[in-house]
Amino acid sequence: MQQITESNIIGEYKLENKLKILGFAGSLRAGSYNKALLHAAVELLPEGVTLEIFDLLGIPAFNQDLESDMPTKVKEFKSKIREESDAILIATPEYNFSVPGVLKNAIDWASRPYGDNSFDGKPVAIMSASIGMLGGARAQYHLRQMFVFLNMYPVNGPEVIVMFAQDKFDANDKLVDDNTRKFLTQLLQNLANWTRRLRGERSILLCRQLRLGS
Ligand code: FNR
Repeated sequence: MQQITESNIIGEYKLENKLKILGFAGSLRAGSYNKALLHAAVELLPEGVTLEIFDLLGIPAFNQDLESDMPTKVKEFKSKIREESDAILIATPEYNFSVPGVLKNAIDWASRPYGDNSFDGKPVAIMSASIGMLGGARAQYHLRQMFVFLNMYPVNGPEVIVMFAQDKFDANDKLVDDNTRKFLTQLLQNLANWTRRLRGERSILLCRQLRLGS
C-alpha cells in the first residue's frame, strides 16, 4: 500500500456529509415566537446542514380508529420524519406547565401504529420560547420524558430556553437577542455533530489526493 508522505500529497480537501433536519413548532399561532425561533435556526445552520420546517396545522385530533389508514397530513408528517430527515428540531411553548396539545397530538400520531414509530432512533434537539420567566423549561423536560419511550436521542445542551420572548424578537419576528443567537448556533452545531456521531461518521473527513507511484 502506498505511504502518505509530504512529497506525494498533491491536494487536500474536506468532505462534509450533508445533513437534513426536520423542524416543527408546538404552536399554530401566526405570530408564534417558537415558529420565529425555527426561522432563526434556518439562518444559523452549520455548513452542510439544511432545515425544513413542517407546519403541524391540519393534523387532526388523534383517533386510534384511523391508524390503519391515517389522514394524509399525518402520512406526510411520518414520511418526512422517517424518509427525509436525519435529525429533528422541536421548538415549543409551554402550556399549563407542559407540552401543548398540538405538539403531543402530532407526536402521538407519528409514533403509531404500534411498531411503526417514525421517530425511532432519531437524534433530536429542543428549544422553547415563552413570554414568562422560565422560558418553557418545564415543557422541555416533559418532552425529554417522551423521548425515552420514542427511542430518540436528545442533544443535552446547550438548553435553548427563551424567556421573556417578547423582548428577544423584533417587530418582524426576527431573533435579535445576541445571546440567544449564540446558544441557538451552538445547539445546531451540537445536533449536527451528535447526528454524525450516532451514524459513526467523523464530522469532517479529510481527503488527500496522492501522486500515484511516488
Ligand atoms: C400559556 N403560556 C404559558 N407560559 C409559560 O411559561 N408557562 C405556562 O405554563 C404557560 N401556559 C399557557 C397556557 C396556554 C393555554 C397559553 C395559550 C399560553 C404563555 C405562552 O408561553 C405564550 O403564549 C407563548 O408566546 C406561546 O408560544 P408561541 O405561540 O408564541 O410560540
